[in-house]
Amino acid sequence: TVENRIDSILSKMTLEEKVGQMAQYTVDVIGKGGNLYASDEPFEIDLAMLDTIIGRYKVGSILNTSNNRARTPEVWEYTVKTIQERALRETGIPVVYGIDAIHGVTYTAGATFFPQQIGMGATFNPALMEQGSRISAYETRASNIPWNFAPILDLGRDARWPRQWETFGEDPFLVKQMGLASIRGFQGDNPNAIGNEHVAACLKHFMGYGVPASGKDRTPAVITESELREKHFEPFRAAVEAGVLSVMVNSGIVNNVSTHADHRLLTGWLKEELGFDGVVVTDWADVQNLQSRDYIGKEYKDAVRQAINAGIDMVMEPYNVKFCPTLIALVKEGSVSQARVDDAVRRVLRMKFRLGLFERPYWSAAEYTRFGSAEYEAAAKAAADESVTLLKNQDNVLPLPKTARILVSGPNAHSMRTLNGGWSYSWQGEKVEEFAERYHTVYEALQNEFGAANVKYEPGVTYKMDGSYFEENAPEIEKAVRAASGVDYIVLCVGENSYCESPGNLDELVLSANQTALAKALQKTGKPVILVLNEGRPRLIRSIEPDSKAVIQLYLPGNYGGDALADVLSGDVNPSGKLPYTYPRYEQSLITYDHKPSQNIDGKMEGAYDYGAQTSVQYPFGFGLSYTTFEYSNLSVDKKEVVSGDSITVSVDIKNTGEVEGKEAVLLFSSDLVASISPDVRRLRAFEKISLQAGETKRVTLTFPADELAFVNPQGKWTLEEGDFKLQVGNLIDQITCTKTRFWDTPNR
Ligand code: IFM
Repeated sequence: TVENRIDSILSKMTLEEKVGQMAQYTVDVIGKGGNLYASDEPFEIDLAMLDTIIGRYKVGSILNTSNNRARTPEVWEYTVKTIQERALRETGIPVVYGIDAIHGVTYTAGATFFPQQIGMGATFNPALMEQGSRISAYETRASNIPWNFAPILDLGRDARWPRQWETFGEDPFLVKQMGLASIRGFQGDNPNAIGNEHVAACLKHFMGYGVPASGKDRTPAVITESELREKHFEPFRAAVEAGVLSVMVNSGIVNNVSTHADHRLLTGWLKEELGFDGVVVTDWADVQNLQSRDYIGKEYKDAVRQAINAGIDMVMEPYNVKFCPTLIALVKEGSVSQARVDDAVRRVLRMKFRLGLFERPYWSAAEYTRFGSAEYEAAAKAAADESVTLLKNQDNVLPLPKTARILVSGPNAHSMRTLNGGWSYSWQGEKVEEFAERYHTVYEALQNEFGAANVKYEPGVTYKMDGSYFEENAPEIEKAVRAASGVDYIVLCVGENSYCESPGNLDELVLSANQTALAKALQKTGKPVILVLNEGRPRLIRSIEPDSKAVIQLYLPGNYGGDALADVLSGDVNPSGKLPYTYPRYEQSLITYDHKPSQNIDGKMEGAYDYGAQTSVQYPFGFGLSYTTFEYSNLSVDKKEVVSGDSITVSVDIKNTGEVEGKEAVLLFSSDLVASISPDVRRLRAFEKISLQAGETKRVTLTFPADELAFVNPQGKWTLEEGDFKLQVGNLIDQITCTKTRFWDTPNR
């Protein structure tokens, strides 16, 4: 068996070899040419550095790209083959190469880029997610990489956080369902034998990373114990039970504890409660950060000791070669046990066996003939189509006539970079220009759809293109206003330039002043303005929304997002995305849909006492319009009374009452009417996306376990309480009663 093979390897390994398996370095350290991030030189491996990293430190894993230039699968093949040949000569153990292929295989020329996770969340379509991840897995393998640092199961509950677009949105159930689909796509059906077309998935970032109190990346979060277990842990729990092979740790501090040193979460919750037998890997330099940023160790050695003893199995250093000698010294002095090291190495080797790396450490890129194929392109376009979310369509201004004369304006109107976002051809999303010819910006796609002669382009506002995120305040608004004179409609594409991680930190969530000024100036022309939001997080638009005839949320839709938008504008595609987060109206009132009743949104809580704490949102979670209308009727629930262990089945008829075919995500919410702690006003319990011809009716059946109605009480116990629950689908409501209270401890329901 695999475990016997691991026993046999472990029994022959020296301490140096074992510690090497726990180390992960960036490929940058073995690349020629100094600071490769700043260089555009073609990649070449420095064989002397390879001798140091593999020969001396016996490093078990490499990650990342080496420079700012996207590589072909053939360059990846050269890279991985050179590394593997050296590793096999040295230790007989293949290296595992990892990368962030979060919406397609990052840094690779010709890769198929899907919408970023936030857009995939908006599709409410796990089948599309599974397909997208399957394709990304294939193209990642085509690039000789078997390990993917995705999916992201953080909850995107704070629009200020610069990584919100990397999540599936704010809701734990949606994140869980999309995450499970993504893992199936990445890993295939058998986690013990991943196969040549799939990759190991890596859940990240365990956990609570998405809600830093300041909204800024990698700053501390405060999360109640109940919320941590009930909402943040839940997607990770389900994914571990589904057999995910690895988990990456939250860089930040939760409730005063640095997660990289948190034995309770890493060993207690993850490894002991869930029985996780895969690899726990750190985020970038986060062991070092325990010392230099979090100040919980006087010396680097203290940081390594705490992290490894907390349950870290692999350390992404990524440059610091002190890690290996430091851990060796800690084991020799007895501060880290040999057993802990053996456990970590066993996990790393297990993943390498599961990936088939011992049998096939590298392969030929030419075997992967479907890389960048038309079939994959069509799948990415279909995903982009379903992500587009129509938020306003006053007087049915959309779809536009095919003969419409259009001005396309705004800094996002003619940019592939803004469509893709970060983690594309480069970390921050730049370098996309090299491949721009193959794909269509919004402007180009509109020319294709409405005829080149009918579409004018005048940006009005532009971004800096030097890789920095912030915008120049040099609007050419007047030119755009003048260009509007001969057109029927203005498609105004605003939002954000691409960014990733801390470079995307913001001081204000409101859409930038120059874009707001452009919108107002164009609205003054009296021409109907279609406001297109191409953004990683919902920037506040309350001052320009009322005078926009239509509003479309495009998110970061990938290489085919311009085409998807053009098809939606012309009516060739009927929009069906729904918001995976609550679109805020005010900076001071960031809120999620599963809030407490006392956060009285728009004064709509029945009977809620008005103490002046009302707030309002721009658009609610789950909101999204269509070019057709759907009528919900005949709601029925299979039982009136439930107890723990029951399953609840809700059925409803949905009719397409309009004139065109459409897709509808049917969402089922529950509300606990009275509970021992103030309940969330609503929780998503099930959803299904259906397609209906004009006039067609389908009966949709949604099932969920009664135990999902439970919450985690302040003592950390799952609690299903007696009492009444409201069930809601569309505008239809029914009620059920739970007749018996039950408490339980562990995450398993
Ligand atoms: O996987 C990423 C993580 O999400 C952010 N820091 C770097 C890691 C490796 O690239």
